[in-house]
Amino acid sequence: MSLATRYRPQNFEDLVGQLAAAQSLKNALDFKKIGHAYLFHGARGVGKTTMARILAKALNCVNGPTSTICNICEHCVEISEGRSTDVIEIDAASNRGIDNIRELRAQAVFAPMKSRYKVYIIDEVHMLTVESFNALLKTLEEPPHHVVFILATTELHKIPETIASRCQVFTFKKFNAREIAGRLAHILEKEQIAFEKDALLPIAERGEGSLRDAISLLDQTLAFSGQDSLTIQAVRASLDILPIEVYNQFVAGLRTGDLHALLNAIHELTQGGANLRVFLKDLLAYLRALVLVGEKVEVHSLSKEDAAQIAERAAEWDRHALIRVFQQLFKLNQDFSQMLSAKSSELKMALEIALVDLVQKLKEPSVSQLVQKIERLKNAIETGKGFEDTVAVAAPAAQPVAAKPVAANPVAANPVAAAVPAAPAAASGEDHHDTGAFLQKAFLAEEVPVNPETQKMFGG
Ligand SMILES: Nc1ncnc2c1ncn2[C@@H]1O[C@H](COP(=O)(O)OP(=O)(O)OP(=O)(O)O)[C@@H](O)[C@H]1O
Ligand SMILES: [Mg+2]
Ligand SMILES: [Zn+2]
Repeated sequence: MSLATRYRPQNFEDLVGQLAAAQSLKNALDFKKIGHAYLFHGARGVGKTTMARILAKALNCVNGPTSTICNICEHCVEISEGRSTDVIEIDAASNRGIDNIRELRAQAVFAPMKSRYKVYIIDEVHMLTVESFNALLKTLEEPPHHVVFILATTELHKIPETIASRCQVFTFKKFNAREIAGRLAHILEKEQIAFEKDALLPIAERGEGSLRDAISLLDQTLAFSGQDSLTIQAVRASLDILPIEVYNQFVAGLRTGDLHALLNAIHELTQGGANLRVFLKDLLAYLRALVLVGEKVEVHSLSKEDAAQIAERAAEWDRHALIRVFQQLFKLNQDFSQMLSAKSSELKMALEIALVDLVQKLKEPSVSQLVQKIERLKNAIETGKGFEDTVAVAAPAAQPVAAKPVAANPVAANPVAAAVPAAPAAASGEDHHDTGAFLQKAFLAEEVPVNPETQKMFGG
C-alpha cells in the first residue's frame, strides 16, 4: 500500500490545512444542518476525496451525524475500507454519459440499505456531458431526503452555474512547502525512519502544492535510498536535484555575461545525464529566490544555509537585470512545456540559443536604465551641474537657445532637445537639435552601448 493511501486522514482532526472547509462542515454536522449537495473544488491531491469520505463517515457513523467520528463502528469501518453499500463513489471521467446518470437517479430514490444516508461521491464531476449535467440537475432540484451528493472537481469553471448554485461550495487550497514538509516529517516519524530535516523541503517543493504528489515522491525516494533513513543526498539523487553550487556558478555566469562558461555548463550537465527540464525549473526557482531575497521577502522553501548564500548572491545583482533574466528563462520554460516530445538534444539547442540571446540582451541598457540616465541629464541641464560627468564633451556657458526660431523646430517641444546647449554639437559641426545624436554622445561618453531600437525611439 502506498504511503499516500496509508496516511489518508481518517477524521477531521488528522487533516492538514483546509481549515475553512473542515470547520464549516463540522459546525453543520454538530448543528445537524445537513445539506444535500456539496461541491469540493481545488487542485489535485489536496484532500477533496479524503474530505468527502470523512464527511460520509460523519453522516453515517453510529454516533452521527457528528463531527467526532468513531472510526470503529461498522459504518465507519466499511466506509474507510471502501465497501459500504451506501457510499457510492463514481468516477465521472469514465462514467460521463447520460445512461450512467439515469442509472444513478433510478437508484437514488431507494432508501439506504443500512445507513442513515446514501452518499454519492462524484469525482471529476466536470467531465460529465451536458445531458448528464441536466439529468443530475433534476435530482439536485428535488433530492430524496436520504441522499447526499458530494461533487469533487479540479476545474470549477467547467461546472454549469445551475449545478454549482444548488451546492454548498468549498474551496480546497494548495499547500505551501512548509505544510507539506511538516506532513512528510509526520509520516516519517510514524514509519520510524530517520531523516535529515533539510531533505524534506526539496520534496515538498517538487510537490507543487499537492500533498499526494509530495508523498508519492517521498515513497519513490525511500525506494531509491533504502528504507532505513533519508538523507539530503538521496533526495537530490532521486529527484535529479543538482547541488546549489551548480546554480550559484551558473547564475554568476549570467550576471557577468560569460557566455562561454554558460554553454560549457550546459554541455557538462547534458554529458552528466542531467535532465534539462528539471535544471531549468530549478534554475527558475533559484532566480525567484534571488529576486525575493533581494527584496527582503522571506522564502519559505529555502533552508537557512541556502537562504544565507542566496542573500549574498542577491546583493551582487542589478535587480532590473535579474528580473529580465528571470522573465526570459520563464518564457523558455513555457516553451519547454509545449515541447513535450522534444529530445534532450533539442532542449539543449533551445537552451543554448536562449542563453546567447539573453547574454546579448543583458549588454543593452534596459528602459529603466535609460530613464535614469535621462533623469540625470535633465538634472544636469537644469542645474548646470554635473553636466561634465554626463557628457564628456565640454559644454561652454549656455548660449541663448531663444535666438533660434524655436517654434519652427519640431523637436523644440521636447524639453531635453530644446534645452540642449548649442555649443557641444556646434563645436563638432553637427546639428545641435538632433536629440538622438546628443543622447548617443552622452551614452558613448559613459561607454554604455546604445540599443539601435532605443536610438530609433529618440530619432537617432
Ligand atoms: N488535507 C490533507 N491532509 C493530509 N493528507 C492529505 C490531505 N490532502 C491530501 N492528503 C494526502 O494526499 C492523498 C490524496 O488526497 P485526495 O485523494 O483527497 O486528493 P484529491 O484532492 O481528491 O485529489 P484529486 O483531485 O487528484 O482526486 C491522501 O491519501 C493523503 O495521503
Ligand atoms: Mg480525488
Ligand atoms: Zn463510527
